[in-house]
Amino acid sequence: MAGVHVVANQKGGVGKTTVTVNLAAVVADTLGGTADSSPVLGVSTDPQASMLEWAERAGNELPFDFEQCHDNPKLLGKLREIKQYSHIFVDTPGSLENESILQAVLTQADDVIVPLEPEPLSFNPATRSIERVIQPAGVPWRVLLNNWDPRDGTADLEQTREYIAAKRWPAFNTVIRHYKLHTRAPADGVTVVQYAKNRVALEARQDFFRLALEVLGTGGDGPRHASAVNGVSSTNGG
Ligand SMILES: Nc1ncnc2c1ncn2[C@@H]1O[C@H](COP(=O)(O)OP(=O)(O)OP(=O)(O)O)[C@@H](O)[C@H]1O
Ligand SMILES: [Mg+2]
Repeated sequence: MAGVHVVANQKGGVGKTTVTVNLAAVVADTLGGTADSSPVLGVSTDPQASMLEWAERAGNELPFDFEQCHDNPKLLGKLREIKQYSHIFVDTPGSLENESILQAVLTQADDVIVPLEPEPLSFNPATRSIERVIQPAGVPWRVLLNNWDPRDGTADLEQTREYIAAKRWPAFNTVIRHYKLHTRAPADGVTVVQYAKNRVALEARQDFFRLALEVLGTGGDGPRHASAVNGVSSTNGG
């Protein structure tokens, strides 16, 4: 049976689609597969369908199989029954309107990844999603700091970590840094495993491989909030 990993935060623009696509890509790239059969399925449950647009631009180069299923409630509630994949990564809507979709998907989740941008304005909406929808679903979940630009210094990052620690939220050690490459990728129809082989691209890719290790290595029930205040490692802060 596939492991179902749901990426959720009802605040728009925090990086759900970016994380879903690139995490699915590095896991598919690592597990291998053939031209006709991938071990990874990416699912978009967002009516805005930005993952679908990205997947269409990628075409045959998309490293995983893909389904757009916001209008298919039957499939939404049966993701766990899909047999032919090892891992399913699910993108969810960034709005309160589609809470029923998110709730349906959470019944299928093995674990939930909650992207959060290191800026105070994003704390309250994330808190609402976590406390009202994600936590009550009763599956393991962790906050993922996304889109931190090291050139801005560490003040926002530290403040966000303090907030996470005060809330006693479980969090990933990995921080996904801000890279222009990630912003451009949907329009170019590429994922992190297809970036050019240069130093910046390797660094950008490394963040997602680190995240994949955390997601797959611990079955979604890994280090708790204490680890999140230990600071970004030297390789993840440059
Ligand atoms: N780590 C990153 N580095 C650079 N750009 C990023 C990063 N994460 C997200 N972005 C950019 O931020 C914007 C919002 O990201 P994304 O679309 O993934 O968020 P979302 O949570 O899926 O949004 P929505 O709620 O609208 O679905 C996009 O332009 C994306 O390219
Ligand atoms: Mg999105």
